[in-house]
This record gives sequence, structure tokens and C-alpha cells, in this order.
Amino acid sequence: MRHLLLWMARNRWLKEHLPRLPFARRAVRRFMPGETVDEALAVAEPFRAHGIGMLFTRLGENLADLGEAQEVADHYHGLLDRIAALELDGEISVKLTQLGLDLDTDATFRHAASLCEHAARIGGAFWIDMEGSAYTEPTVAMYERLKAEHANVGLCLQAYLRRTPVDLQRLMPLNPAIRLVKGAYDEHAAVAFRKRNEVDAAYQSLAVLMLPQAAAGELRLGLGTHDLELVDRIADYAARAGYPKTCFEVQMLYGIRARDQVRLAESGYRVRALISYGEAWYAWYLRRLAERPANVAFALRQLFG
Ligand code: FDA
Repeated sequence: MRHLLLWMARNRWLKEHLPRLPFARRAVRRFMPGETVDEALAVAEPFRAHGIGMLFTRLGENLADLGEAQEVADHYHGLLDRIAALELDGEISVKLTQLGLDLDTDATFRHAASLCEHAARIGGAFWIDMEGSAYTEPTVAMYERLKAEHANVGLCLQAYLRRTPVDLQRLMPLNPAIRLVKGAYDEHAAVAFRKRNEVDAAYQSLAVLMLPQAAAGELRLGLGTHDLELVDRIADYAARAGYPKTCFEVQMLYGIRARDQVRLAESGYRVRALISYGEAWYAWYLRRLAERPANVAFALRQLFG
């Protein structure tokens, strides 16, 4: 099922036709508040009330021409202005291919750098999502380049990739901000662990490796997962080592484990919800379905009900 859904996520014909179906539009609402920035910002209040920070991302991936990258950058500058005006604890998370990584590395760097500067001015961070493994090296290299000039840039690393421990050793001296996730793409066994227990073990050992530096305030650690048992194990380890609860932040997606997000925030953990919006939700939505087959049943109920 997972491989089928991830294949569907890459299929061009489906990408063009499926999003037009009303049932698909209804089903996606479970994971995103809407397609516009207004709809995304409109759900901020309950998060703010519970002390939960937010991460906003406009969905979209690879671009066909560089002019589109300028449009994406302009959009995020506008979003940062809106976040500042609303005085939200809101940050942004962007895929580098949205900023033109396939087309022009220097132009991508310039767009990302100006978003870092803008985010710093409003007191927040600029996060970089991690895409399929073909982009891992250019993304890590771009992170190093940005981090040399901007303290407030964060990077997503995927625990399922066999190379991630080496990437982490490379980045830790930079006092990075890391969002650790399991990984959402369909990767070959040569580059990624494919068994759940292997991915979970890799996740835990990477998190534990970062905890001392995070507790010392020299690394910002975001645990980007809904796996509460895994979060509990990492939190137990941190508590036994005498690290404060605030040494990491739990980051979850809007619409998933909403009650747990509140519970964690109320029990003293730092929590941040990633709110996605935009028209280009098809591939992203299919990856959410692939993460949990029960979500397919939910989508089908939208078709028949
Ligand atoms: P796992 O899949 O083991 O799920 C644990 C439990 O959480 C499930 O049993 C279920 O109860 C619940 N759950 C998980 N996913 C669900 C879903 N879709 N619907 C309903 N319940 C669900 N990936 C990537 O490759 N690059 C990136 O940049 C990012 N960025 C990112 C940011 C943030 C804030 C999060 C939370 C996740 C990402 N991801 C990502 C996605 C990540 O790689 C991974 O695919 C998902 O988080 C699902 O894995 P879990 O860690 O939640 O564990």
C-alpha cells in the first residue's frame, strides 16, 4: 500500500487529474486548513492559546522556471510580514526545490538567505525541508552555506537515510537547528532503512546523540514525529541525564494527534505544529496517506459519504 501510494504521488497523470475531484479536496482538509494563506493563519489562535508554536509551509515542489522561485520567495516574505503583524510564534519551512534548487544554486541561495534575514528580523527561524535522496547532498551543502552567515536557519534530517549519522557529524560543529523526522519518500534499500524497527532505532540514536548539545543550548532540536512512544523514550533518556524538558521541541503536523499536541504543551514540553496550505497539495497528501493506511479508509469515506 505504501509503495503504491508513493508511486501515485509521483505519477504525472494522477497529479493533474485527482486534485480536481471534489472528494479528494474534502479529504485533504483533514491535514490542511485550506489552500490560502488566510486560511492557514486563521487556525493560529487555538495554537497560540495553548502555547504551541507554528511552522507554516506553502505546498509545492520542483519548479519549471526561475521566475516561479521569485514568486515563492515573495510569497514567504509576505507571510513573514503577516506573522509579525499578528505577533505569532510562527516560523516558515520551505523546500529548496520551491526556491529553484533544480535550476540555479546561487539564485536559490540568494532567495533562502533573504528569507533567513527576514525571519531573523521578526525573531524566528527559516527551516529547510528535506526532499528525496537525490537532493540530500545539495540540501546539506546549502544548509552549510546558509549557516555560515545566518544563525537562525534550521534543517530537516531523515532518520531512515543510511547517510544521516555522517551528515549529522558534519553539521554538529555548526551549532545547527535540526528537525529530525523518520522520512517520507520511497527510497531504495541501498540508501535507506525500510523496516520500521530499523528506522525507529536510527531515529532514537540520532536524537540521543544530539541531546547533550541541545541541553547545552548549542543545538536546537526538533523531534518531527507523531510517534509518541519514541518521543517518550527520548524524553525519558533526557530526564535520566538531567536535561530540562525544554531541551527539545516536538513538532507535529496540523490535524494529526491534535489532543496530544495540547497535552504535551500543558505538561511543559515545547511543541510546534506544522501548518501546510496551498494548491499543490497532491503529492504531499499522498505521502500523508502512505504514512498511515487507515487514512486511505478516511479518504474513501469522503468519496462515498
Ligand atoms: P510513524 O509513521 O511511525 O507514526 C507514528 C504514529 O503517528 C502512527 O501510528 C499514527 O498514529 C500517527 N501518524 C503518523 N503519520 C500519520 C498520518 N499521516 N495520519 C495520521 N496519523 C499519523 N518528511 C520528510 O521526508 N521531509 C521533511 O521535510 C519532513 N518534514 C516534517 C515536518 C514535521 C513537523 C513532521 C511531523 C513530519 C515531517 N516529515 C518530513 C514526515 C516524516 O518523515 C514522516 O513521514 C511522518 O512524520 C510520519 O512518521 P512519524 O514519525 O509520525 O511516525
